Amino acid sequence: MDTKVILEVKNLRKSFNSFTAIDDISFSLEEGEILGFLGPNGAGKSTTIYCILGLVAPDEGDIRIFGKNIFKGRSEIFKDVNYASAEFNLPWNLSIWENLLVYAKLYEVPEAKKRITELLEIFEMSHLKDQATRDLSTGLRARANLCKALLNKPRLLLLDEPMASMDPDVVDKGINLIKQIQKEEGITVLYTSHNMWEIEEIAGEVIFLNHGKIIAQGSPLELTQKVLKLEGSEPNLRDVFIHLARSQDEPK
Ligand SMILES: Nc1ncnc2c1ncn2[C@@H]1O[C@H](COP(=O)(O)OP(=O)(O)OP(=O)(O)O)[C@@H](O)[C@H]1O
Ligand SMILES: [Mg+2]
Repeated sequence: MDTKVILEVKNLRKSFNSFTAIDDISFSLEEGEILGFLGPNGAGKSTTIYCILGLVAPDEGDIRIFGKNIFKGRSEIFKDVNYASAEFNLPWNLSIWENLLVYAKLYEVPEAKKRITELLEIFEMSHLKDQATRDLSTGLRARANLCKALLNKPRLLLLDEPMASMDPDVVDKGINLIKQIQKEEGITVLYTSHNMWEIEEIAGEVIFLNHGKIIAQGSPLELTQKVLKLEGSEPNLRDVFIHLARSQDEPK
């Protein structure tokens, strides 16, 4: 069976004035892949995602989603893409239900009310559906964001620390749900998090970014064995992360 490349980032560069945030990175995601996108604060993860979404204009490079240039035929491409982030806020004054209904309309979700009800149940928010988004706790807002991100059953899902403020019980449910969707519908996910357990649970492949460059890539276990020079059979991304982050910051 042919594998389809869902996302292709080639030689991406982005500077803000004289500061280089993204320094010539290339990577791709095949259909059904979940890629963990890791790196210290300021490494360039969110900037890369903003470039993929077309919200930040790259200085150089090429970004293709479903084989198409993201600046051509945007509405056709982005109806099958979605995004959730700790930084994203749904409109404050609307209730969760109203917010999800508006987004369902924008994405032309068939049987919108059924889909919203289903997602609210999964994220245990049905009883909160009429609450104004502004009145929710941070973790509950993150859950609502994730509901919004799954509304259109996206083929490509960009998740930038989506579960940063969720309690571990809900994180576990969120991860299982994404895995289940991946299995059933072959969803492709780019996933950033600072919680290494989350990444070990969900990602088949991991990219480490530092100072805007890709400094390591592989499965969580491969990276553990390679970076930490261990023979073990359990991934340990936390130690890999610390090792890679510190090795870059040592004086030359
Ligand atoms: N609009 C902007 N203007 C100037 N600098 C920016 C801008 N956006 C991002 N940067 C800088 O680019 C660098 C990369 O930021 P980015 O948000 O991509 O990091 P990150 O890897 O997502 O970090 P975190 O883990 O903290 O979310 C940072 O040094 C940041 O200050
Ligand atoms: Mg970020």
